[in-house]
Amino acid sequence: MERLPHIIAAHAGREGPLLPILHDVQAEYGHVSEEAIRTIAQALNLSRAEVQGVVSFYHDFHAEPDARPVLKLCRAEACQARGVDVLAAGLPENGRVKVETVYCLGLCSVGPNAMIGSKVHARLDATRLGALVEALA
Ligand code: FES
Repeated sequence: MERLPHIIAAHAGREGPLLPILHDVQAEYGHVSEEAIRTIAQALNLSRAEVQGVVSFYHDFHAEPDARPVLKLCRAEACQARGVDVLAAGLPENGRVKVETVYCLGLCSVGPNAMIGSKVHARLDATRLGALVEALA
């Protein structure tokens, strides 16, 4: 939690600092721990329950670290129009890869798209998506 005070300080003067702080904490530590929730609540003069409520409301935040590799699958309108829902339904449910839904990766004309790390994989079909998942597992 060494960087937590710096993360809080970077956003504390802004309007609505809680979500940016939580996003940075999630990115830095891979989860938002009880200790982080207490510290953030104290720094923003919120109750622990208020911060906990935001953490549990948004799917982006996790109370426990999750070491599984993440595939972010775009389920926004353009990728839906290009068949992402059928692709998503055909994904293997082996639990070794965490599939997260995102809404637009900015490459709508070449969807369906997914992102692994910072790399976007475009023009996915069932074979290509299955190969990505298998390579991650
Ligand atoms: S809708 Fe999927 S990348 Fe924009």
